Amino acid sequence: MELLQGLQQRVSTPRLTEPAPDARQLEQIFQAALRAPDHARLRPWRFLTVAGEARHALGEVFARVALEDQPDLAPEAIARFKALPLRAPLLVALVCKITKHPKVPDIEQQLSVAAAAQNILNAAYALGVGAMWRTGSVSYHPATASALGLARHEQLLGFIYMGTPSGSAKKLEPLETKDYVMAWQDQASSQRVTGE
Ligand SMILES: Cc1cc2nc3c(=O)[nH]c(=O)nc-3n(C[C@H](O)[C@H](O)[C@H](O)COP(=O)(O)O)c2cc1C
Repeated sequence: MELLQGLQQRVSTPRLTEPAPDARQLEQIFQAALRAPDHARLRPWRFLTVAGEARHALGEVFARVALEDQPDLAPEAIARFKALPLRAPLLVALVCKITKHPKVPDIEQQLSVAAAAQNILNAAYALGVGAMWRTGSVSYHPATASALGLARHEQLLGFIYMGTPSGSAKKLEPLETKDYVMAWQDQASSQRVTGE
């Protein structure tokens, strides 16, 4: 697939089924992730793959964390939390590893991991692998980060669900470039010219 065409047509795939991407595809996907822009080459990313039985363990974590915040959660809601990771054969947890740096604030390191995540989505799309970035209430909970083994200086930025696309492909909503892009002009100088 041509790069530009892929960038312009990529879609997320909410319905995913077996098989998961194979080792060769994952290698290509992660190599793309590692080319994300990265101020001062801090390499602020770390990725955890969650597949097979480990998804059930992650579902137990989600349910336990949800119960911590909402002890009255109904059994059906608990079951829904347990089943969340089973929506795809493979999940990639996006971990931002913050390094204190005089010129690179935390936000730039988070943005780098987000750029790596977008590279993962684009590379997956190019390979015909379905993918979708998901977060949700339990994703940002410190207990989830801790259960995943994250250190104190690490943050969980969500999960990319991956697998084989199932169902019909989503129709792209056409977006007009002009609605989102405009030439900036200095207000003060344009007011001087027009005499306003
Ligand atoms: C940081 C982040 C978190 C997201 N979390 C969720 C989520 O928890 N649930 C969800 O349905 N979509 C979530 N999305 C949106 C989807 O990943 C996806 O972008 C959206 O469905 C639009 O589809 P598209 O990528 O094909 O345009 C999230 C997107 C981002 C960037």
